[in-house]
Amino acid sequence: MIRTIAKEIKEYKWASIVTPLFMLLEVLMETLIPYLMASIIDKGVNAGDIGHIYRIGGLMIVAAAIGLLAGMAGGRFGAKASAGLAKNLRESMFGHIQTFSFANIDKFSTAGLVTRLTTDISNIQNAYQMVLRMMMRAPSSMICALIMAFAINRRLASIYLIAVVFLGIILFFIIRHATRYFQMAFPKYDELNASVQENVSAIRVVKAYVREEHETSRFQKASENIYRIFVKAEHNVIVNAPLMQFTVYTCIILISWTGAKMIVSNELTTGELMSLLTYCMNILMSLMMLSMVFVMISMSTASMERVCEVLNETSDLANPVHPVHEVADGSISFSHVNFSYKKDSAEPVLKDITLDIRSGETVGIIGATGSAKSSLVSLISRLYDVTAGEVRVGGRNVKDYDMASLRNQVSVVLQNNVLFSGSIYDNLRWGDPNASDEECQRACRLACADDFIRSFPDGYNTHIEQGGNNVSGGQKQRLCIARALLKKPKILILDDSTSAVDTATDANIRRAFRNEIPNTTKLIIAQRISSVQDADRILVLDEGRINGFGTHEELLASNEIYREVYESQTKGGGDFDERTGD
Ligand SMILES: Nc1ncnc2c1ncn2[C@@H]1O[C@H](COP(=O)(O)OP(=O)(O)OP(=O)(O)O)[C@@H](O)[C@H]1O
Ligand SMILES: [Mg+2]
Repeated sequence: MIRTIAKEIKEYKWASIVTPLFMLLEVLMETLIPYLMASIIDKGVNAGDIGHIYRIGGLMIVAAAIGLLAGMAGGRFGAKASAGLAKNLRESMFGHIQTFSFANIDKFSTAGLVTRLTTDISNIQNAYQMVLRMMMRAPSSMICALIMAFAINRRLASIYLIAVVFLGIILFFIIRHATRYFQMAFPKYDELNASVQENVSAIRVVKAYVREEHETSRFQKASENIYRIFVKAEHNVIVNAPLMQFTVYTCIILISWTGAKMIVSNELTTGELMSLLTYCMNILMSLMMLSMVFVMISMSTASMERVCEVLNETSDLANPVHPVHEVADGSISFSHVNFSYKKDSAEPVLKDITLDIRSGETVGIIGATGSAKSSLVSLISRLYDVTAGEVRVGGRNVKDYDMASLRNQVSVVLQNNVLFSGSIYDNLRWGDPNASDEECQRACRLACADDFIRSFPDGYNTHIEQGGNNVSGGQKQRLCIARALLKKPKILILDDSTSAVDTATDANIRRAFRNEIPNTTKLIIAQRISSVQDADRILVLDEGRINGFGTHEELLASNEIYREVYESQTKGGGDFDERTGD
């Protein structure tokens, strides 16, 4: 785990190395100062030697200045190294997420990925900064101070040792207890983010269903959970400070008391007592810092684990060693394909699918919701891999193709497609970054989007808001179709992509497809029989199995499901469009 994270330090290695060195320098200066102080008091003040006071005083100023500069430099490089690590981690993680298959993304929730990219990485950043600055500083400061204290007076210094051991043991238990709570806290952030993310991205739905209160209370619950855990954790940590104070003051009293008696009997000088007291503070401060470092480390191990989980996740779809880049034609064949989303699920979503589609053919796909229409087509552009059997495109197994090439030549308009913020041109060019304005407009004419785009004041430069919220559902669908057409695919798959378009426009789009892109294989998933009726063949799916595959007439004659749906849509109770349609 550490190795995975450490790999991301990269160009900040240098900053990571010098930070502890600077901190060490600061510690050395800090240890030197009380020693010089003792010398000023004993040899300068008590002996009345003004020259000595000036000399050593000057040295003290220099030492303080060096310490200050070293501390500042350490802080600066520490910040640079830790922020750099966070930056590299985020970039790696983001880049890695881009390689994820749909199955990988299903595994981590979107909210989970967001928390890992933000909160968890920030934790690692803070912990790393703390470790760089304190891991060297605290122990070395403690050791230096102990050495100096022992050099000055063995008997008094042993008081420290007892205090250090006593505090160490207590801290160990406090931290172990607190760690448990911190580790519980981070998964709770996922819940919080899930609530925020779902709510904000679907704020319109929330409002339409007057679910604001429900959503608010869900958020409050998530947020209160985190509050409770942190308060509990901090309750444990907070004992730290008073305990430290108590020990520090006990030590000071003990040292002053024994020290005073020793001064009286001439075993110790005033200066030595002064510096012993300062070392006492140094030692206990270091111990406190160390305890904070441990808390941070324990907090961040939970985060590190979560980040590594993502970084070490391998995409379960791999490009073949010698990928094929060109799809020969638009033919598709399934042979005995079984498919399930989860490896261990009892019943597959698609069961024993075998079918052949010729290049250039138009195939309609219908079936009840949940009959696995979307699942079937997602296998063609290899958004998921089959569980058993084989899917061939252009005569070759889809696993033989370079994934990017395959997806460029098999264009899918997903069922819940989205537009991105940017102009209409920007959105269209997702299909083909090099498309000229004319090509974009041609694709829009094919998708019957040209008319409404021209009716906007800014035409093709109209700004689309995030998610495409400022165009209607049917307009959005047509823009998505145009975007898919710009890829000039060999296979075009429309997953319920004209559901929000009126029947007349729907028919126009299909007519344009027939006339303008006759050689492209077209798969059209639809709920309306009218959308698929004029296709070359129609596939009827039922609970993941092929129930019928033939022309409209053949199916009407032989397929029960098809006939029922057809009758319900053409006679009473069917599709609204169908009765009033063109
Ligand atoms: N990402 C997923 N993870 C797990 N199960 C899924 C996933 N997507 C779909 N399923 C399940 O697979 C089955 C088929 O879903 P699919 O989306 O293919 O149906 P569909 O025919 O496209 O339905 P609709 O007409 O409503 O779009 C359903 O039972 C669904 O619960
Ligand atoms: Mg679907």
